[in-house]
Amino acid sequence: MDFKQQVTTALMGVLGDSLPADKVAQLIETPKTSDLGDYAFPTFILAKTLRKAPQQIAQDLVAEMDQAGFEKVIANGPYINFFLDKAAFSDQILKTVLAEDANYGQSDLGKGGNVPIDMSSPNIAKPISMGHLRSTVIGNSIAKILTKVGFNPIKINHLGDWGTQFGKLIVAYKKWGSEEEVKEDPITNLLKYYVKFHQEDVEHPELDDEARAWFRKLEAGDEEATKLWSWFRTESLKEFQKIYTMLGVEFDSFNGEAFYNDKMDGVVNALEAKGLLQESRGAEIVDLSAYNLNPALIKKSDGATLYMTRDLAAAMYRHDTYDFVQSLYVVGGEQREHFNQMKAVLKEMGNDWSDEIHHIPFGLITQGGKKLSTRSGRVILLEEVLNDAVNLAQQQIEAKNPDLPNKEEVAKQVGIGAVIFHDLKNDRLDNFDFDLEEVVRFEGETGPYVQYTNARAQSILRKANQEVTMDADLVVSDANAWDVLKMLGNFPDVIVKASQEYEPSVIAKYALRLAKAFNKYYANSKILADDDQKNARLSLVKSVSTVLEASLDLLGVQAPKAM
Ligand code: ARG
Repeated sequence: MDFKQQVTTALMGVLGDSLPADKVAQLIETPKTSDLGDYAFPTFILAKTLRKAPQQIAQDLVAEMDQAGFEKVIANGPYINFFLDKAAFSDQILKTVLAEDANYGQSDLGKGGNVPIDMSSPNIAKPISMGHLRSTVIGNSIAKILTKVGFNPIKINHLGDWGTQFGKLIVAYKKWGSEEEVKEDPITNLLKYYVKFHQEDVEHPELDDEARAWFRKLEAGDEEATKLWSWFRTESLKEFQKIYTMLGVEFDSFNGEAFYNDKMDGVVNALEAKGLLQESRGAEIVDLSAYNLNPALIKKSDGATLYMTRDLAAAMYRHDTYDFVQSLYVVGGEQREHFNQMKAVLKEMGNDWSDEIHHIPFGLITQGGKKLSTRSGRVILLEEVLNDAVNLAQQQIEAKNPDLPNKEEVAKQVGIGAVIFHDLKNDRLDNFDFDLEEVVRFEGETGPYVQYTNARAQSILRKANQEVTMDADLVVSDANAWDVLKMLGNFPDVIVKASQEYEPSVIAKYALRLAKAFNKYYANSKILADDDQKNARLSLVKSVSTVLEASLDLLGVQAPKAM
């Protein structure tokens, strides 16, 4: 089924030992436009050994080549252009997709290796930010993509549930808070107390001492401190869970920063034993100047551990627990230095597996060009965004297809799907400005457009009301079908590329291209006409739907059968 292999074989037949097969395969290109064929081979590299001009080489090789299985092979300047036998290609691709169905594109590159993915990881008592949304949907999609290529991802929500801010929160709650308020709207009110603390401590610096004392109590397992902390955590998690349910994202572990509290001595002792700890103004640090990095702060002067200490413990715990082949951290680009430091410290400790740790950064979401920040009050509340998106989707459905059964369910799939797709279609590292209207647009490069294209394919299949059969030749010879067929053939490579680059946008962009090519085909052909290619055309429609659904699934977006 491998058409590139077919090209390599044809070339090897005439190249003899002037180039090894893997090198030939590497050099084969996919031309930008189809008038240049389906594959092209540049001959420059042979000029030296064959002592001929590339143009001449191209002509000579084409003249000698066995061209069976190709529509034609031509020399074009220094290139050899290969045109595949379209009928054979069509038959093979469609049969493969139909037979493999939802498994089409699956592979075993990962050989079942464990890959912990640190994702979402919001902070207790604070709203989930747009950054956490990005981490959640990017992490979820990477997990799905890695599963598809044979890895075993473990989705870990490394909750921000520990640190000196909890001392502040306890002080603030005891001074200004109430149980009813927290129960009613935990995040809003806990955040309110926290903000008030920061306003008050300007005039009353003794508040900070109180807060430090409470965090020390918490670290020591004091009953009252632990009870409050655990209650704040539970209430916050309930709120977070609402959003995860809407997004359809599940986690394998909620072991956050607090989980590592009793594993901290291990880290500090190990650093000590290796002689890596240094004192600096009362604090304990690891010098990383050899890595061109700022020192990693391990322990504050008051003995409290830090974000870094807990991340070191978490990295070692994950290594021991999962014996990972890679360990991923889907966290915004602003924490790049932190993860570089973490990897460097682990490396200094003699852990070579530090090289298998990858920070997967992503760009910022801005609003009106400005950075969002909890402190300045410029926040976008995620739950509101998701609800608004669902409402807008509902209005569109109401206007376009009022008789649709299960309208509400579909509105959810479309609204939420739009938000997720919008986030994933951009290159991971790109910053983008948030605009709700733009997010839930149905036309153009959007999730609803891909979903709608799939629903259209499903509707054609319902109308045809006939089972497609694989016993016949599945040849669709329509010129507009060719792009669609070739894209279907590319799906497995696209998945591998997305997995190697940890880049869901590769899948999203592919889905958009396939949807566009299919719509063009649909507009220019009579799919349901009763002629001898009808069964083949319906196979094409069915295959497109299979691959669009698989693509959306890899992004964590649902695919309604009608909308
Ligand atoms: N809670 C952190 C934040 O909101 C993100 C944690 C990322 N994961 C990690 N292992 N450090 O910024």
